[in-house]
Amino acid sequence: MAKETALPLAFMARMAALLDEEFPPFLAVLNQKPVPALRVNTLKLPVEQFLALSPWALTPIPWCPEGFTLDRKANIGTHTYHEIALYYVQDASAMAVGALTAPQPGERVLDLCASPGGKSTHLASLLAGQGVLVANEIDRGRAEALRRNLERWGATNALVLNETPERLADRWPGAFDRVVVDAPCSGEGMFRKNEEARFHWSEAHVVGCALRQREILHSASRLVRPGGRLVYATCTFAPEEDEGVIAHFLRSHPDYALATPPWHSGFQPGRPEWADWPAVETRRETQSNSLQRAVRLWPHKLQGEGHFVAIMQRAGDQAPAAWKPAQPVRLAPSDRAALEAFWQPLIGRPLPERLLLRPRESRDVEVLAPPEDAPDTARLRTALSGWRLGLLRKGRFEPSHALAMALRAEEVSQRIDQPIGGELAARYMRGETLDAPGPDGWVLIAVEGFPVGWGKRVGGVVKNHYPKSLRWG
Ligand SMILES: C[S@@+](CC[C@H](N)C(=O)[O-])C[C@H]1O[C@@H](n2cnc3c(N)ncnc32)[C@H](O)[C@@H]1O
Repeated sequence: MAKETALPLAFMARMAALLDEEFPPFLAVLNQKPVPALRVNTLKLPVEQFLALSPWALTPIPWCPEGFTLDRKANIGTHTYHEIALYYVQDASAMAVGALTAPQPGERVLDLCASPGGKSTHLASLLAGQGVLVANEIDRGRAEALRRNLERWGATNALVLNETPERLADRWPGAFDRVVVDAPCSGEGMFRKNEEARFHWSEAHVVGCALRQREILHSASRLVRPGGRLVYATCTFAPEEDEGVIAHFLRSHPDYALATPPWHSGFQPGRPEWADWPAVETRRETQSNSLQRAVRLWPHKLQGEGHFVAIMQRAGDQAPAAWKPAQPVRLAPSDRAALEAFWQPLIGRPLPERLLLRPRESRDVEVLAPPEDAPDTARLRTALSGWRLGLLRKGRFEPSHALAMALRAEEVSQRIDQPIGGELAARYMRGETLDAPGPDGWVLIAVEGFPVGWGKRVGGVVKNHYPKSLRWG
């Protein structure tokens, strides 16, 4: 069945009425295949270095310096560079969210609806390891996926929470420089990628999503410091969400106003007339044009699936509200000795001073290095509180995959570094043991100088510690 006929009829009728003579080109692109795109992981390498490594022809995305579109046949989802997180596969229009949020290194940033981590990994790269990224996801299973993605990405200053927006707002009012709400939405911008989005769509779903977004945004507004920014984004075209939600938010939150984002080729302004915006009191009418400061990314106007982004600035100018800091612990001397016995001969950067311990269900204890400005997360459902270094297990220290992914290979004295396509690396990723002479102990496996994971060598045989879930099938 052609995709065109699988699009919900009521959706088509709505879009035809909204878009008028633009409807035929809009419909035409919905019947084309999505354009693949990737965003380079600048925590691991500069864009120029990736350009030199890339086996594909890359076309820059105007609004995202780390983003590129590719030929439809490019195998970016299965390439080794993807497995070692040199890039994230992300729709080009979705990259506008992180780019327009523009966090500055050192800031406190909250991504409130964050899984699987497309925006969070982008925000983590822009923070460049400085400041704090709190990535929250209300769904427990999805929060775990978010944690795995941020760890693979090499983020060292991220917390992952599994909370409701209300509970976070009660705990940390005014504590963030920037809050991103990449809202659960009716997903019309997913229609050409995702059959399920088409299946679940209905006009009632659109209305339900709009109401839920209003509630999430209200909580989000409480978390932003005076002078800070609240970013609202969806991957839908429905005006009841998008302009409708922003108009409602601005009416009920007079301390917020839309900010003008940097404008790029292909961006289209928000549509005030779709939200009945001028029909409100005079003071608000002065802001009616400001709904045009929201950005619509349409699939027939640029290379991307479609997004809506609005940046709202909170009035005033105050530093983020103080929060109770995370309380690092002093390691017992035997634990400290075990950790140092692993770290000192192997890792060419100082062992982090401040450490957290998290007992696990077994008798193992997880060791983490929290970001410098980390908050205490007691009584919040917490999936991650910083850089997970590894486990204290029966008097020894066992490094985590997250430790490997956030190191640079040259920082590790014992390593097996393979060129792309190297046989040993392929065997490692398949989960095999490796024959590789050298001293006994932990070894980092790397490809082209980028970490893949740990192995442990005894008598010239390297036992595989690549996480089972990542191994080639
Ligand atoms: C559009 S997705 C987020 C995509 C993600 N930001 C990314 O770029 O990978 C919206 C997320 O909001 C979560 N969500 C659903 N209901 C929510 C609620 N009431 N409050 C907060 N988040 C919610 C969903 O579980 C979903 O993961």
